[in-house]
Amino acid sequence: MTDFNSTVVALKDALGDKVSTGVSVLDLHASDEAHFKPARPDAVIFPESTDDVVNIVKRCAADQCPIIPYGVGTSLEGHIIPVRGGVTVDTSRMNRVLQVNSDDMDAVVQPGVTRKQLNEALKTTGLMFTVDPGADATIGGMAATRASGTNAVRYGTMRENVMALEVVLADGRVIRTGTRARKSSAGYDLTRLFVGSEGTLGLMTELTVRLFGQPEMIAAATCRFDSVEGAVNTVIQAIQLGIPLARIELIDTLSIRALNAYNEDMNLTEAPHLFLEFHGTENGVAEQIELFKELSNDGGGHEFQWATKNEDRTALWRARHDAYFATKALRPGCEGYVTDSCVPISQLAECIKETEKAVKKSGLTAPLIGHVGDGNFHLAILIDGSPKELAQAKALANDISSLTLSLGGTVTGEHGVGIGKRPYMLEEHGDAYSVMGDLKKTFDPLNIFNPGKLVSVN
Ligand code: LAC
Ligand code: ZN
Repeated sequence: MTDFNSTVVALKDALGDKVSTGVSVLDLHASDEAHFKPARPDAVIFPESTDDVVNIVKRCAADQCPIIPYGVGTSLEGHIIPVRGGVTVDTSRMNRVLQVNSDDMDAVVQPGVTRKQLNEALKTTGLMFTVDPGADATIGGMAATRASGTNAVRYGTMRENVMALEVVLADGRVIRTGTRARKSSAGYDLTRLFVGSEGTLGLMTELTVRLFGQPEMIAAATCRFDSVEGAVNTVIQAIQLGIPLARIELIDTLSIRALNAYNEDMNLTEAPHLFLEFHGTENGVAEQIELFKELSNDGGGHEFQWATKNEDRTALWRARHDAYFATKALRPGCEGYVTDSCVPISQLAECIKETEKAVKKSGLTAPLIGHVGDGNFHLAILIDGSPKELAQAKALANDISSLTLSLGGTVTGEHGVGIGKRPYMLEEHGDAYSVMGDLKKTFDPLNIFNPGKLVSVN
């Protein structure tokens, strides 16, 4: 691999101690949360301003040195692994909430602000930032992967919630895409192009995001079902009826076992469950609950167990958010190979049924959880890291990807493409994939931005 020593020396001259080559720092930036082989960057840079980022990009462009943006490293498709070396740009020092425009219900943040940090800053305003992928990810990283998670069924994904961006391009230009206006027909939607571009087109240095009012009433509950099928059919009907659920998550039996073991205070019956949250006025919530209860009765659902106190609700969602780690703890020392199917809601029951069959046939351990209101679910395939099990997991994930595509879905509902999902992009997009390659070449002719991820250019 090319070595970028002279680039690192030049960057150290320009940026001083914002550049680190300490081995432990390099190691911390060598992998994400998934099973991919780690690779160290040549240096990690901690810019503090847009100007710093421009300096980094100009130097790296001159030397054709890869630049890999990094938030907190919670991605699941190898996005932030410097597979071709180069410098990692860690946004943790660009972590200021720049504006909260309460009257317009938006906020302007630097990319290193995390979602919890933003919500903490919003606490007294009556507003909230709703996108919640589980991890306390950065807003920059979430925009880069077009993340979503538990709340998206009601409030949308990063696609709907990023309104405008400041981006540093490969030639050092700093552009602004979009405005704080709620809609616009002013030409190409560059904001949406950068959202989900995984650091392959430019580096985001400022983001304007949409906020929502904190609901007057929040009610959270768990509901046990006799079968996954019954739970899924209940979800499909609830969505088709337009019940405005804020969260509706499926947790299968094996995942419930994992959550019980991982969380001291959790003691749910080992059976498929839905975890639910209703937002609205008191009357509105009561009405939603009534409607939902009727559906769940028909689907083989049992009594709701309410998480009424604030702490109980927080504990419930913390347990859900930690589900990936909880399921991994079912097999100590294992690695998680995570799938991310998302299908049109009418196809969800079929997709989950066939997925369960494929898991059974594979003989692998693979708990299933999902943001089922969006038609999105994951398997965490637990493997020991040996080539044999890795190959088995790949084969299972392949089958599930084919199944998902055959049902009109996408192989990645929310985790992004990175390295892991790149092999499926041609099948999912057809000729449109080569158009993505063309865009990449236009924005980044030297292929310095996160090379080896998402698109296929050389
Ligand atoms: C979750 C992650 C894996 O849903 O997306 O927990
Ligand atoms: Zn998820």
